[in-house]
Amino acid sequence: PPHRRTLSLSAADPQAPARGAALLAEGRLVAFPTETVYGLGADAANPRAVADLYAAKGRPAFNPLIAHTATVAQALDIGAFPPEARRLADAFWPGPLTLVVPFAGGDAVCELARAGLSTVALRVPSHPVAQAVLKAFGGAVVAPSANRSGRVSPTEAAHVGADLSGRIDAILDGGPTEVGVESTIVDATGPVPRLLRPGGVPREALERVLGHTLADAGKDDAARPASPGRLASHYAPRAAVRLDADAMAPGEALLTFAGARPRGAEAARAVIDLSPSGDLAEAASRLYGALRALDATGAPAIAVAPLPRHGLGEAIADRLARAAAPRPAPEETPQ
Ligand code: TXA
Ligand code: MG
Repeated sequence: PPHRRTLSLSAADPQAPARGAALLAEGRLVAFPTETVYGLGADAANPRAVADLYAAKGRPAFNPLIAHTATVAQALDIGAFPPEARRLADAFWPGPLTLVVPFAGGDAVCELARAGLSTVALRVPSHPVAQAVLKAFGGAVVAPSANRSGRVSPTEAAHVGADLSGRIDAILDGGPTEVGVESTIVDATGPVPRLLRPGGVPREALERVLGHTLADAGKDDAARPASPGRLASHYAPRAAVRLDADAMAPGEALLTFAGARPRGAEAARAVIDLSPSGDLAEAASRLYGALRALDATGAPAIAVAPLPRHGLGEAIADRLARAAAPRPAPEETPQ
């Protein structure tokens, strides 16, 4: 894509959200913080802006985007919410939950943003800067994670700059994000909601509100395709990633949790403990920054000690499994 001058805006400036919103209204690409990760925003109703967004990320256009709105009422207008989707929306919005529901029609989210599907992914983020941008803009904003396709998602403005400077119009810096992994995605189009992507809202919390368990993506319903974006390799640092390490190999860096030390850890090139106290929320918030930092040591591989799988541990395990998956050739790199 052609070179763009990337403006730096600080959330400390009270005018910044309105400036970001004005750029979005002109069809420009603006990165802003959400409570999960930084998103790269474009006007969801503007196919030209959405096409530019796909190009800036290097993302295949068959992969649909999440439309973000300031209010629950706006989201309820864009989708046709079945009763269980409505209960999840009422319980978790604003917050780190994305609901896939039938598209209700209208021009708020263009066909390209939906990748031609009859469904739409919706989210009402809680982050004050995201809220301010969305309120000032007024309409729906599509926002994938603000990273180059296939790379680690950004949890700080500097991560966005490293990947996308010169390819987008502005970065609104609101400091590090709180949750640190992307939103949980639930497909609520069928009779039983399905978990498409574990994320910031733990499965257990969703199941408590529903009063029953969620179906898993791709397991029980071959007729309905799972989330098109769920390609295996994703969130990949440059270094290889080796899971469930109980011993270190020469030259490896170590990513660990709750003080666990695989054999030979004292010889590791670098060690990051995601949460020495064993707090999974802290670990999620530090995950992507830790992968970037260990990558920057130049270690050929990152060994990952075993982590718990409950609560936010499910999202952490999912992202690490994708980081460790065999990498596609660059032309077929996802998202
Ligand atoms: O936390 C988040 O969700 C962040 C922040 C910026 O909001 N956004 C994010 O977007 O992670 P992205 O584009 O990286 O991931 C969106 C995922 C993709 O896997 C895509 O395939 C899926 O949502 N998706 C979007 N629309 C869908 C639909 N109609 N049906 C199934 N999956 C859908
Ligand atoms: Mg992404």
